[in-house]
Amino acid sequence: MEKERRAHARPGAGSSWAPSTVLVTGGAGFIGSHACVELLDHGYEVIVVDDYANSTPHVFARVERIAGRFVGAVYELDLRDRRALSAVFDRHSVDAVMHFAALKSVSGSVARPVEYYDTNVGGTTALLRTMHEHGVHRLVFSSSCSIYGDAGPGLLDEATPPRPTNPYAASKWLCEQILADVCRHRPEYTVLCLRYFNPAGAHPSGLLGEDPQDVPDNLMPYVAQVAVGRRERLRIFGADYPTPDGTAIRDYIHVMDTVEAHRVALDHLADEPGMHVYNIGLGQGSSVLDVVAVFSETCGRAVPYQMVPRRPGDVASLVADPSAVTRAWGWRPTRDLSDMCRDAWRFQQLNPHGYAGSARRPGPKG
Ligand code: NAD
Ligand code: WQD
Repeated sequence: MEKERRAHARPGAGSSWAPSTVLVTGGAGFIGSHACVELLDHGYEVIVVDDYANSTPHVFARVERIAGRFVGAVYELDLRDRRALSAVFDRHSVDAVMHFAALKSVSGSVARPVEYYDTNVGGTTALLRTMHEHGVHRLVFSSSCSIYGDAGPGLLDEATPPRPTNPYAASKWLCEQILADVCRHRPEYTVLCLRYFNPAGAHPSGLLGEDPQDVPDNLMPYVAQVAVGRRERLRIFGADYPTPDGTAIRDYIHVMDTVEAHRVALDHLADEPGMHVYNIGLGQGSSVLDVVAVFSETCGRAVPYQMVPRRPGDVASLVADPSAVTRAWGWRPTRDLSDMCRDAWRFQQLNPHGYAGSARRPGPKG
């Protein structure tokens, strides 16, 4: 039974257009599931589509436990299945879409480039065609700092020329170009394209976090699994980068800040038609050794590591100039690296084996 809805006023609710029902593609994934909580917490109706390629439906029991509300409906479908997707739009009056669904492993994309283009670009065009057929023209798109490639040291603003170095990043850049072209020719569209840097951390409840289905590719979940004893040691890929401590620098951003940016984006989908691109990062670089040090301090034990050669395709530094989104929306992230480590550690301690074994809630499912 649906629990009492939290009485949050939506900031955009006073303007002429304010979304009330949001379709979240990839809503079972790491960032999508946190977005569901953020949206439910702020009074939105949430519809999810996901094929569980890199996630599990167990996550929804946790989303609902945190939010105290049910997700409106969850459909297990591949975004490229336009008939199934169209039936979702037929059944629900969707106001805006948050498009998270994609394959995101850089190494996976090098091994299986066609699969990545097919899922990421084909999923996006299938979504766009279906949105068009149903008169839905407002979209928040998950892009990635990886499109900047090896752009060198210093803060990267949105005008930095994209130079993707792997099929995953190239697929995201292709999606951006398609979305920009759609907006160029069809004035009814508004697309807010958010280029996230390195989302990390977890929901502060410890119920929701990053639960990769395989050995983690990403640094923070790997460090957390070492800290909890699930893996022996971290392998640090490269100690010979031209950085102060020799390890690569990234701009880690709390997943709660990342999804807050999406929720705030909904209030700006009616500002001005067209495509608008924003970096979502802290604007502060942390090296791999910085992350290890802060995580070790957080969990109260040393995280064992060994230095190994660089990972192919990695770059020395990727740090955002995040000022454009603050200028446009007055929004900025508020959580730092120690918040990310604290929340990732809490999730890891409470869920040493991820979501495995948690119960699936009964409820609507397509
Ligand atoms: P994730 O893998 O945890 O979530 C993606 C979700 O999409 C998964 O639940 C997966 O099952 C689903 N999915 C994949 N293919 C699908 C398909 N064909 N049809 C329906 N569902 C499908 O990844 P995430 O970290 O939550 O990333 C979300 C989005 O953000 C992705 O688009 C990713 O490229 C982008 N992004 C992520 C990061 C990061 O570091 N996590 C950084 C920048 C951008
Ligand atoms: C961070 C740093 C590694 C694991 C990727 C995508 C990017 C975005 C975020 C989606 C790097 C080092 C890592 C390990 C290590 N995702 N590392 N040992 O590569 O910056 O970015 O995820 O869009 O597009 O490219 O993130 O977390 O994998 O690595 O030393 O076991 O940690 O070499 O310097 P990355 P990451």
